[in-house]
Amino acid sequence: MRQGEIDAVRSYAQGLLRTNLKRGHDLSIGYRYSYLCPSPNEYPWQWFWDSCFHAVIMAHVDPEQAAAELKTLVAGQDANGFIGHITFWGNRLWGLTNLAGYAQSRPGERLRHSALIQPPVLAQAVERVAEVLGDPAFAPPFMDALDRYHEWLAENRAPDGDGLLVIVSPYESGTDQSPTYDAPLGVTGKAGRLGLGLRDRWLDMRNWLNSYGSTRMLRAAHFYVKDALVNALYAESLETMARLHRAQMNPASAKTYAQRAELVTASLVEKLLDRTRGAFYSLTGKEELRSEPLTVGGLMPLVIGGLPRDVAGELVDRHLRNRNQFWTRYPVPSVAASEPSFDPRSASLIWRGPTWVNTNWLLWRGLRRHGFDELAAQLAARTITMVAEGGLREFYNPLNGEGNGARSFGWSALALDMAEG
Ligand code: GLC
Repeated sequence: MRQGEIDAVRSYAQGLLRTNLKRGHDLSIGYRYSYLCPSPNEYPWQWFWDSCFHAVIMAHVDPEQAAAELKTLVAGQDANGFIGHITFWGNRLWGLTNLAGYAQSRPGERLRHSALIQPPVLAQAVERVAEVLGDPAFAPPFMDALDRYHEWLAENRAPDGDGLLVIVSPYESGTDQSPTYDAPLGVTGKAGRLGLGLRDRWLDMRNWLNSYGSTRMLRAAHFYVKDALVNALYAESLETMARLHRAQMNPASAKTYAQRAELVTASLVEKLLDRTRGAFYSLTGKEELRSEPLTVGGLMPLVIGGLPRDVAGELVDRHLRNRNQFWTRYPVPSVAASEPSFDPRSASLIWRGPTWVNTNWLLWRGLRRHGFDELAAQLAARTITMVAEGGLREFYNPLNGEGNGARSFGWSALALDMAEG
């Protein structure tokens, strides 16, 4: 990795403070918010997992903003612990300028936030920011919000004894238009922007008619997926909570979280791991059918510290290092290059082939956690080159590194955290 590239990525990260920063006083929630939006043109609001990644980036260039980002995120939390996938700070005119948000928020909430979730990476962000800042006092003020958040997930979205979370919309996966969700959405044959968009909106309507109530949505099961990526991050989140509580001398809470992490990990291995193929596949519907195709989500359990060594080894040796699947010139594509649905550009439908920096960052951490330090360093070096050359774009072509999608896209600056190690 060259110093010039690291300097470029650092200056992109600093540039976000000029281009993506949103500050103001929200009257409906009554809070002075301060966050980085994912992209000034396409994504003006506060997105849940983007914000977690932004905090990690900011820890390297503006620690105060890192704290403000996470404080703003939890300021939008409901009393019952729920945090929406988008918080509409500074929304005016009851969101009349933001019609799309209506279908994904509960009637009566006036668009304060969406009624959907996103992959659970808040605890990981709190832990990583504290580590980068070297500040043991950083995490404790977030513990109450984090505990309530995890309670909400367990009570509302883990309906069975297996402890796995169920998502009720592709948007909850963070990998919105991944081909994983074609079948559960009822798409047969080649997915198109219009067809997929209409099915997404139809699903929004059906969830809306169920008032986005967890019990009703899970019973109706219009979309019911035990997602590999979401549950991998859930297990990692529970492990993180156990570590945070242990460090803060709360052994009883630490033990409870550790046990939950073990249950979720065991269920992932038992139910989502296809032993003959050596990778994870999301389960769709109450029948829990394994979804196709092989995607980056199928490798994501690598982030779990408690994943059995042999399983981690197979994910890495059979799939991640495989040049025909995931080890392209600019790894890691969102869909394995060997899949018929792999589309390296796919600008009109996202998550169907291009490389995303957030999933690279997550896998990079997983590789290091399981002792694959050399491969982790290679992944970091290629990601940094890709971002330094292409700028902060939403996603990149895994074959030639070309940037695509939204510009000035926040989480792509996670390459800086990979550079700093
Ligand atoms: C897209 C991505 C989602 C992200 C959002 C804002 O919808 O699929 O993961 O949070 O954009 O960047």
